[in-house]
Amino acid sequence: MTQKRIVLIIGGGIAAYKCLDLIRRLKECGVTVRVVLTRAGEQFVTPLSVGALSNEPVFTNLFDLDAEREIGHIRLSRDADLIVVAPATADLLAKMAGGHADDLASTVLMATDKPVIVAPAMNPRMWLHPATQRNVAQLKADGITVIDPAVGEMAERGEAGSGRLPEVPELVARIETALGIGGPALAASNVNSPSERLPLAGRHVLVTSGPTHEPIDPVRYIANRSSGKQGHAIAAAAARAGARVTLVSGPVNIADPSGVEVVHVETAAQMLKAACGALPADVGVFTAAVADWRIATAANQKIKKQAGAKAPKLMLAENPDVLKTIAADGPQRPGLIIGFAAETDNVTAYAAGKLKSKNADWIVANDVSPETGIMGGDRNRVHLVSVKGVEDWPEMSKEDVAEALVARIAAHLRAHEDASE
Ligand code: CTP
Repeated sequence: MTQKRIVLIIGGGIAAYKCLDLIRRLKECGVTVRVVLTRAGEQFVTPLSVGALSNEPVFTNLFDLDAEREIGHIRLSRDADLIVVAPATADLLAKMAGGHADDLASTVLMATDKPVIVAPAMNPRMWLHPATQRNVAQLKADGITVIDPAVGEMAERGEAGSGRLPEVPELVARIETALGIGGPALAASNVNSPSERLPLAGRHVLVTSGPTHEPIDPVRYIANRSSGKQGHAIAAAAARAGARVTLVSGPVNIADPSGVEVVHVETAAQMLKAACGALPADVGVFTAAVADWRIATAANQKIKKQAGAKAPKLMLAENPDVLKTIAADGPQRPGLIIGFAAETDNVTAYAAGKLKSKNADWIVANDVSPETGIMGGDRNRVHLVSVKGVEDWPEMSKEDVAEALVARIAAHLRAHEDASE
């Protein structure tokens, strides 16, 4: 097969991060990916990360003389077999429909004689706006392939509808079809095989989620504000990626994710027992906000108020650390252990400490100060801490954090497999 080339234009949308995975997947299929980053796109992904993944120069500026001398925007647009715009913002669609050419991306799109695919991603109201729909109709009439956005929760708090960038495997499939490499190339690269569409197929993922309740007596308990939303979203995303998932959940007010085996527990001790009972697992993700302490001796009967008596004193005892116990070196240790660190200050420094002290491979750290609204809320802003350093992820929905984390888990397992082959 001759090497196929695409130009990927990355617009300025929160979904731009998915393009990093898209580049990697396309490269695995033997597709050369040259990236044009719009000025807005650069706010979401950096030329450095794009260049490192594509192993090609990254183009950002129409008047970049070095790049012009080396390649030129006309050649850039014509050398490719296909131009892909993802995420295509409302603004980019409007520019394309109107025939503007005032920056590198729009100029490449005007200058090309090759097929063009656009994958719009934006707020649902912007997508449904008559102007956007008019522009999309114009682009279709001009022969451009438009991949309809997926339906789901948006990056904006409480917004849902049509406007999400489709998942990477779907984008890869559409690009490959457009490149005419659906058959043998897919088989060779494995990208459309069940294991690639379901990148965690055959894996067992253990997830802990929610708070624990530590009884004081049969009717009272110590608890915390964890909602379980992030852990449940990770369990659901891992199941969608084909994994067998065991979710050990403390008491929460949200539904069990579908396709997941859920073990309901109350206390830290029960969580530890259930998590150990679920081993062996390939991956352990410990999102639960396990109570650090329990009441040393919980009362068997309800503690009664006695007229004139002093308030009872609660004696605390330390709870077992579920993550630390399972992450301890040994034959049952899952190959990849991911802890969470909910902090209110010195977020990444504390997380780095926990990475070491708990023998975890990655720590997903977040700032749960009350003003962030993260604890109990629908959105999250996390930092991925590993021995390689700290990666700051943009703020997104807890579902998107889950998707992104599962994609990273799958990539890690695959790289590990490749290395051991
Ligand atoms: N964790 C656990 N069992 C515990 C305490 C914590 O499995 N008894 C896990 C959490 O699920 C999380 C990580 O350890 O993945 C860090 O939890 P966190 O509460 O931030 O850490 P602690 O060790 O409790 O430290 P501190 O509360 O002092 O910050």
